[in-house]
Amino acid sequence: MKAAEIVNLLNNYLPGHSLEQAFYTSDDIFHLDRELIWKKYWLFAGVTAEIPKEGDYITYAVGHDSVIIIRGREGKVHAHFNTCRHRGSTICQDEKGHAPKLMCPYHQWVYNTDGSLFKARLMPDDFDRASYGLHPVHIRLIEGLIFISLAEEPVDFDPVVRDLAPYVKTYQVDQSKVAFKKSYTIRTNWKLIAENFRECYHCGPAHPEYCKAVVGANLRESVDDILVERRASWKSKGLVTEGVDFQTDTFHFATRYPLRDGVESYSLDGKAVAIPMGAHKDYDAGVVGLVCYPNFWMDAVGDYVWTMRITAESASQCRIDLTWLVDGKAEEGRDYNIERLTEFWKITGEQDWKLCENNFNGIESSRYQPGPYAPVELEVAKFVEWYVERLREGVEATSIVEL
Ligand code: FES
Ligand code: FE
Repeated sequence: MKAAEIVNLLNNYLPGHSLEQAFYTSDDIFHLDRELIWKKYWLFAGVTAEIPKEGDYITYAVGHDSVIIIRGREGKVHAHFNTCRHRGSTICQDEKGHAPKLMCPYHQWVYNTDGSLFKARLMPDDFDRASYGLHPVHIRLIEGLIFISLAEEPVDFDPVVRDLAPYVKTYQVDQSKVAFKKSYTIRTNWKLIAENFRECYHCGPAHPEYCKAVVGANLRESVDDILVERRASWKSKGLVTEGVDFQTDTFHFATRYPLRDGVESYSLDGKAVAIPMGAHKDYDAGVVGLVCYPNFWMDAVGDYVWTMRITAESASQCRIDLTWLVDGKAEEGRDYNIERLTEFWKITGEQDWKLCENNFNGIESSRYQPGPYAPVELEVAKFVEWYVERLREGVEATSIVEL
């Protein structure tokens, strides 16, 4: 695709409408998404509870970049590009592991957890080890949530930390327990997942279990009265209630919304599925919903945290990684049961993956054209505007579109 065609597509974008087909299906636009969004914005990589001990690590692959996130001395968490400074081999091959020192499998250069080069065998005496540490990746923690940025100069993350941290804090994610993880690969464009998770227009018909748990999800009931009452109760317990609205110049969102009367958790029968998590003393926490574009969603109830990490693998393929966290002291079988803990989001998530795949299949049609958003899809419109703005900004600032 020529630069002029991309500029044309951006100029033709009609606010309040879904995007032109190429934004969802073209490899060239996907290349732009990678360069202007995925390599620039902050990405959710995992939680510190996955790497509790020194030497524990996870890797996260985004495009051609693999990142090692490792717990080092004094509990500090480091992130490094997973490429050896000798001849470039990947160092860690697994998604999770433990290594007091990181040894490259090729010629066995050895790195410390902080990325500095510890040993390089058979290199000359005057070899300057200090200049060959692993390339660092920007990393920020939000109360146990790990975010990384592949950019040399990432966008400002302080507002995200400021706005999300008070919501995450009460869950004590750093001391929590990873109860379950599940991954999916689905045939869709990443933006269709982002769009799907910003509206509940589809919830009534598509998510009976979700609508049974959440007031107003079917868009047929008012949430206002119950919200006033619940907010007073949450405030009295010290739980943050002020929402952070997603604006087109930011890339995050936070809210707390109520479950139905008598519903304690995101579960099929509405009953709690685990002991209260972190600082929570009961199940009256509503639902904390957090988003950070392009790849992080979190829904938390009084007894568990559910995170969703999406990774765009191509224009037509996305990987989704779900994680369920419970209180650090919770014991499986006694305080929770995996089946009950996970069934609500497995069912609801899988309903969404199907919708997102259907959406993508239909967009590939030669007769697809952008359609109008309903007023209840305002948040989708905001996301799409944010996305278009990022592309415009990038296209103006660089020559990346000269493909
Ligand atoms: Fe890593 Fe040679 S490529 S030691
Ligand atoms: Fe949905």
